Amino acid sequence: MACCIEQIKKHVSIRRFTGEPIPDEDLGEILEAARRAPTGWNLQPLSITVVRSKEKLRQLADAVGGQEHVANAAAFLVFSVDYAKIVAAGEQIGVKVIPRLANLYEALIDVGIASGWAALAAESLGYGIVYVALYENPCAVAEIIRAPRYVIPAVGLAVGRPAEQPQPRRRQPLEAIVDYEEYGDPREKSRLVAETYGARAVKLFTYVFDSEGYYASASEALQRCLREHGFSLQ
Ligand SMILES: Cc1cc2nc3c(=O)[nH]c(=O)nc-3n(C[C@H](O)[C@H](O)[C@H](O)COP(=O)(O)O)c2cc1C
Repeated sequence: MACCIEQIKKHVSIRRFTGEPIPDEDLGEILEAARRAPTGWNLQPLSITVVRSKEKLRQLADAVGGQEHVANAAAFLVFSVDYAKIVAAGEQIGVKVIPRLANLYEALIDVGIASGWAALAAESLGYGIVYVALYENPCAVAEIIRAPRYVIPAVGLAVGRPAEQPQPRRRQPLEAIVDYEEYGDPREKSRLVAETYGARAVKLFTYVFDSEGYYASASEALQRCLREHGFSLQ
């Protein structure tokens, strides 16, 4: 088991799994890593729904646009922003809890950290992982895991024994990401960004940012689902 500097350097997303199940002991270590992660106010406004049944994995794969690595994972961890348990705890102690935009923002950071720690724990145990966006159709995922009001699925982590070993993917150089003391030259950063993605940039940026593209429709679905699940966007 090697964590974490060397593990981090080796990271590559895995999208083909052997089909081997994940023992409870390993799953426990992965979930414990998420539980121990830092969290704003120590409030832990998140839940992790572990999905291992083939039937539910298939439903989830279909809900995220037919991503087969979800159907074939040993486990798929759905990380949700969860204010349901906080709202209910508030009722018990006589405090009205209304999750607002800033609470949502904070909880999403918590989800990012907790899922990142879980991912690292999984990789250090020899598992492959791939993150899966759930914001294309969050309410479909919410329905599959039966998430109540004030719970919204944020991101998923497919985990399994790797059946492939892809090359690590190129990242932006440190100079495009890190500045010291003050924000750096945006033109130099943009040059480095364009260089990183090269010929793929046009296709990638169009897919992600086009006014009719993925994130335009995902944003609509997300806003609708957030409202349906009781979240105020103010
Ligand atoms: C928030 C988030 C959402 C992602 N969603 C998906 C996804 O839906 N499907 C997928 O195959 N990969 C997804 N990925 C994985 C990225 O595509 C991957 O991390 C990136 O291309 C870099 O590759 P690497 O992880 O192999 O270094 C996601 C990653 C993150 C952090």
